[in-house]
Amino acid sequence: MSGFEAVLQAPAKTPYDEYAIQVVDVKKRYGVGEDAVLALRGMTFHIEKGEFMAIIGPSGCGKTTLLNILGALDRPTSGKVFIDGVDISQLPNRELALVRSRKLGFVFQDFNLLSRMSVVENVELPLFIAGADPVFSRRRALALLGRLGIAHKAHKNVNHISGGERQRVAVARALANDPKIVLADEPTGNLDTRNTEMMMGLMKQLNKDFGKTLVIITHNPEVAAHAQRVISIRDGSITEIKTN
Ligand SMILES: Nc1ncnc2c1ncn2[C@@H]1O[C@H](COP(=O)(O)OP(=O)(O)OP(=O)(O)O)[C@@H](O)[C@H]1O
Ligand SMILES: [Mg+2]
Repeated sequence: MSGFEAVLQAPAKTPYDEYAIQVVDVKKRYGVGEDAVLALRGMTFHIEKGEFMAIIGPSGCGKTTLLNILGALDRPTSGKVFIDGVDISQLPNRELALVRSRKLGFVFQDFNLLSRMSVVENVELPLFIAGADPVFSRRRALALLGRLGIAHKAHKNVNHISGGERQRVAVARALANDPKIVLADEPTGNLDTRNTEMMMGLMKQLNKDFGKTLVIITHNPEVAAHAQRVISIRDGSITEIKTN
């Protein structure tokens, strides 16, 4: 194991490796001086392995800030974040990228599919970024599309498929690297009722059938009702953690 790879290994038996995610007194400040915004004011919680957790709260309360930190896209100003037992709060960029690429999958609002590319190429993207073998990547992407029922659209441009099909491509892409944890920021934010229900069906499939720990951010209480637990946030603080 190289030193670089060692980053991905949790130190032997920490109090933190029993959870998928452990957040300890995390604060995040944007900017300095008078313009500083304290977006997260000290959050402590954990997410169990295999759990489906929703994070809910009004606009500007800090949901995306928190998800960016959980997703190794940003660092807290203070506090600690353990992903699968590894403290990512102080990791340098290269190592943060490695954790992101190996342990985490993402479903973005509006899905962020690359429009010049085909369905299968979009699903291959995380594998490409992780430096996987192209033949393996193609086989894995096609297998995932098969499990999600859209293998027959694999070579279509993503602009030439339906909204429901795009949801499935976004979910397949989040699963490409076989991450332990999938993070979704408002995956139903711009969807109508029918497509919201379809997306929630896919999210449950991802959690139950694929066995992924799932964290969803939402404004929508009906979406949060599908989760096992719900964290409510207001003004950068947790106000409640509720079990459904
Ligand atoms: N890059 C940034 N620089 C400065 N302030 C920021 C930055 N990103 C977010 N903020 C501020 O931090 C606070 C939390 O923002 P965040 O984007 O996390 O909210 P949110 O809960 O995701 O909101 P929404 O539901 O509208 O997406 C807000 O006051 C926001 O203006
Ligand atoms: Mg947001």
